[in-house]
Amino acid sequence: MKSYNIAVIKGDGIGPEIVDEAIKVLDRVGEVFDIDFSYKEYLMGGCAYDETGDPLPNETVEGALNSDAVLFGSIGGYKWDHLHRDLKPETGLLRFRTALGVFANLRPVKVYHELTGASHLKEEIVDGVDLMVVRELTGGIYFGKPREKREDMAYNTMVYTKEEIRRIAKIAFEIAQKRRKKVCSVDKANVLEVSQLWRETAEEVAKEYPEVELTHMYVDNASMQLILDPKQFDVILTGNIFGDILSDEASMISGSIGLLPSASIGGKIGVYEPIHGSAPDIAGQGIANPIATISSAAMLLKYSLNELDASLAIDRAIAKTLHDGYRTADMAKYGAKKVCSTSEMGDIIAKNIEK
Ligand code: IPM
Ligand code: MG
Repeated sequence: MKSYNIAVIKGDGIGPEIVDEAIKVLDRVGEVFDIDFSYKEYLMGGCAYDETGDPLPNETVEGALNSDAVLFGSIGGYKWDHLHRDLKPETGLLRFRTALGVFANLRPVKVYHELTGASHLKEEIVDGVDLMVVRELTGGIYFGKPREKREDMAYNTMVYTKEEIRRIAKIAFEIAQKRRKKVCSVDKANVLEVSQLWRETAEEVAKEYPEVELTHMYVDNASMQLILDPKQFDVILTGNIFGDILSDEASMISGSIGLLPSASIGGKIGVYEPIHGSAPDIAGQGIANPIATISSAAMLLKYSLNELDASLAIDRAIAKTLHDGYRTADMAKYGAKKVCSTSEMGDIIAKNIEK
């Protein structure tokens, strides 16, 4: 029997609720596919600050580095908003991404046919959307120096080295090769030098992938095009902050931000987490949608463990559950035969896992 060690970071807000459901589904996958998963929990975010005074204790980084993959929920909440930047939950997460070297954040946006009515956009615009945002995750304005906040002014710096752009561009092209062979690189090259380097470097990398078509789009136009005609996109290659914004926007195509998973790869160990935040307003009520986290577990099986059949089994189980009309509250208005709680949703998806 194959066995894997998963580092589990539940985090804050709805994190614990949604991660529990992903574990439930992984355990069922283990039974069906004869895989043994063992889990070790670690602290990160506000809960880690409360317990240890540090939003990212060393133990968490070490535990993650000694695991086969990290399953992560979400961090942050109003309670910690007043803290100095170094102590904020978000800083813990950013340090974690750096410590693991996960520079490539893959955020697939696939519209479940059953949920086309749940999108705020017209059904014909969203039905069949299948795109992948490839977001650079350990550079750009999130990390650039100098940075400073003073009484009457503040600044951040958007920095990218050519090498940082090259390595994320290569990931985008590799992924596009296995998809519809189109990369759209999103930047602000009409204004920013950093984007001009981004664009030139993307062009250079494109030469190594002659079968993949590269186009460029300014980020303001891209945010409009995502709503106007999302089906034009295959792989979107972009930097850290543009990718953060565009992926939240893209989640609305799918109908709920509670649906979209992500994989952060490129370092020693992959991190798998929903794209959404910790939703402190609904935490503890048992109504959060666990699908994004369950779907992130499917990405974990695919990208870190190479358990492709098991990964597809999760995707199929989610699709069947939605097809059968089960909905959490966020998607309840459309095609719901039964509105279920977070844990009922996990139960049904787990039950639907088949070889
Ligand atoms: C995300 C989140 C994070 C980010 C926050 C919590 C720091 O919004 O993963 O998209 O901006 O990267
Ligand atoms: Mg975000």
